[in-house]
Amino acid sequence: MRMYDIIRKKRDGYALDKNEIDFFIKGYTDGSIPDYQASALMMAIYFNGMTDEETANLTIAMADSGDKIDLSEIDGVTVDKHSTGGVGDKTTLIVAPVVASLGCKVAKMSGRGLGHTGGTVDKLESVNGFRVELTPDEFISQVKSTGICVVGQSGNLAPADKKLYALRDVTATVNSIPLIASSIMSKKLAAGSECIVLDVKTGSGAFMKSPEEATELAEKMVDIGKKAGRKTAALITDMDIPLGTHIGNTLEVQEAVSVLRGETDNDLKEVCIALAANIVSLAKNIPFEKAEKAVNTAISDGSAFSKFRELVMAQGGDVSLIDDTSKLPKAEIAYNIISDKNGYISHMNAEIIGSASVVLGAGREKKDDTIDYTAGIILNKKTGDYVSEGGIIATLYTNDKARLSPAGTMLLSALDFSDIPPRKSPLIYKTIN
Ligand code: URA
Repeated sequence: MRMYDIIRKKRDGYALDKNEIDFFIKGYTDGSIPDYQASALMMAIYFNGMTDEETANLTIAMADSGDKIDLSEIDGVTVDKHSTGGVGDKTTLIVAPVVASLGCKVAKMSGRGLGHTGGTVDKLESVNGFRVELTPDEFISQVKSTGICVVGQSGNLAPADKKLYALRDVTATVNSIPLIASSIMSKKLAAGSECIVLDVKTGSGAFMKSPEEATELAEKMVDIGKKAGRKTAALITDMDIPLGTHIGNTLEVQEAVSVLRGETDNDLKEVCIALAANIVSLAKNIPFEKAEKAVNTAISDGSAFSKFRELVMAQGGDVSLIDDTSKLPKAEIAYNIISDKNGYISHMNAEIIGSASVVLGAGREKKDDTIDYTAGIILNKKTGDYVSEGGIIATLYTNDKARLSPAGTMLLSALDFSDIPPRKSPLIYKTIN
């Protein structure tokens, strides 16, 4: 078999068979197929797409390219969730302890922030002492003892995807639905959980800008999960507006705790309840409504918050910061963004707002940058809210004064105003299962 023939076949619009896909993934992972041939194939896939069967074969080949986590020692149903990424998306901090408090086993590998989007691992690390790097034995034994563990991704999980993702990033081939679906699902399959719930975001702060694109991606991922024998569902949720009010690492921990304690009722809570109820419904094979009731009870009776405390304690985090989030470290500078007009916020560009929080120090502009955990934004107003002249739109937090002005300018550039309230778009577009 020759890589040249595989590229030509895809270039001419034909479907690749399993042997050809396996040959490519094996050769690319071991280095015998060079980047320039892999790039040509990625571009051919970008233009000609892939059938469902090709996408499933590509996913399985990538999942098999490195370590696969064996969760068979864990009693009970193992569950995982994945978000395609957004701004203010702290759903894992809430959903994971909620479902664990209801008996689901959460053995979760999470990522760091990427571009304008935040990452669960950074958020957890912002709690002093929290360890996200555990040995495989520590990982499994914590899930056995507490029902929940959240760590960074193992270095050798789906290495073919790691190489291909870096290549796609510099060859303008990220934005292809079969390539995104296989990239995400290869990591989920290798991570080993039996039930997978995907939160596919749509809107200005998401990869998929329209609900139609998000639906196509979600359907492909659910199809792959099912073909691989995993119970899989996906929710299409809004990311046109940042989720919740807090953006930035310790700020997001603070908001997550407030939802877990039942003190906050907002869009963030609604999305978390929908995700958690879908996980519980899949894992326990019970109707959604029954699962949703159990999820609400887990929050109102304190068991979800207790499970979060257990998670923090088990991984070395300072639990006193969770018990009293006012003790979490704070940025030295808090600066209010004041409105110079009256009107409704008719649209906010979530990607620009996420980038403004990165400028304040909450994310990395380059791979090796260090994060200022206390930096970020609290939104006082969101799309649909009325703002009066002189009113506070948002508060910016940072430890570096020089960052305030560029971040403030960005934040204001992300907002459109109008005299009439905008049409409300749905928070949860649909569920695919
Ligand atoms: N996230 C991934 O893991 N892979 C992609 O291709 C896009 C987003």
